[in-house]
Amino acid sequence: MTRSTTATEAFEPEHAARLARDLAEKGAIRSPEWRRVFARVPRHLFVSSFVVRTSEGTVAYDEQTPGRLETIYSDATLITRFSADGLAISSSTEPSLMALMLEHLRLQDGMKVLEVGTGTGYNAALLSERLCSALVTSIDVDGALVDRARGALEAAGYRPALAAVDGARGYPNNAPYQRILATCGLGRIPVSWLDQLDEGGLILANVGLGMALLRKGSDGHARGRLLPEAAGFMRLRSSSAPGVPTVSEVLSVTGGGPERVRVVEKVAGLDDHASSEFLLSLLLPYGLRVVQHRQEGQVHGVLDGASGSWMRVEVDHQGRTTVSERGDRHLWAAYTALLSDWEEAGRPEIGRYGLTITPAGEHHLWLDHPQNTNTPLDQAETTG
Ligand SMILES: C[S@@+](CC[C@H](N)C(=O)[O-])C[C@H]1O[C@@H](n2cnc3c(N)ncnc32)[C@H](O)[C@@H]1O
Repeated sequence: MTRSTTATEAFEPEHAARLARDLAEKGAIRSPEWRRVFARVPRHLFVSSFVVRTSEGTVAYDEQTPGRLETIYSDATLITRFSADGLAISSSTEPSLMALMLEHLRLQDGMKVLEVGTGTGYNAALLSERLCSALVTSIDVDGALVDRARGALEAAGYRPALAAVDGARGYPNNAPYQRILATCGLGRIPVSWLDQLDEGGLILANVGLGMALLRKGSDGHARGRLLPEAAGFMRLRSSSAPGVPTVSEVLSVTGGGPERVRVVEKVAGLDDHASSEFLLSLLLPYGLRVVQHRQEGQVHGVLDGASGSWMRVEVDHQGRTTVSERGDRHLWAAYTALLSDWEEAGRPEIGRYGLTITPAGEHHLWLDHPQNTNTPLDQAETTG
């Protein structure tokens, strides 16, 4: 059956079936139910023009571009919206990452789900196909995206509840939910989500570079491990959360004159780029690190968007480290405390970390078990 056409190609159900098969072969889809769902939902209805980034460069697609359906039904992120200054702000996420998240949600028939980050509506369609539209609510801060997603969802035969609101407040109108899924990245989990989640319910969200899978307990706390996979979704844009600085802001601010300078011996952990980046993303949820490789060594510039504090860490080829800092928050002390705990624990992988969120919204980081070395993440260090 041919369901719709472009000038160059026609959609066949086999396209979606092939995507589902590929995702199952990659191990992203693990259950027959999600394989059925991915094979059933026509992704091409949710995108018109989009951009794909590959190792060879960026390719822009419109309705007429040859190879369009092949790309849509591949494991590619399809970027659908850019801000005025050229930043990607909406996309249809890489299907293997979506499948991984959907599998981790452990949905059961009859559960009510809130998705934060409607984007194209494709993920809302997958949820609707799995559960039925009446159990799915999806929200996005961008009203134009919500309107477009509504049209695409209807064309595909789904009618979940949609709203153009700031996801940082959740969506109390349809609460409580048994699952809350964020398809945008967060610095911290909003308290409103805990309030709107049933006891025993799950939150799955990208916090910093971690993917946190948290269950709400009878004490109102949400606790859980991070998934072994790191991820960095497009950030939640909200008036209630500070913005993350851009690369050029980091370079310009951290090039300035410091208040404090110190020279220290080689610092363990700084050499492990991925782990130190991950720990920093939890410590400074609204911060950005930019690493420059120079002839004399490496320069790490870190700017905290929340406090305006910054540090510049220059490491020469012998490991001699010069730290320059400015601002109320002493970033170096907080950062090296986390790095040395990580080093002492034998350099654990991401999946051994977990988070506890209190009903007041405090975030605690732990290793292996919530009772273990429990690091409050939100203290503003002003010493060290
Ligand atoms: C990666 S896209 C979501 C992809 C989507 N689930 C799909 O299937 O196409 C991230 C989305 O988060 C949305 N977003 C950003 N800030 C938000 C906020 N404060 N509340 C709700 N959505 C937000 C963006 O507008 C963007 O559409």
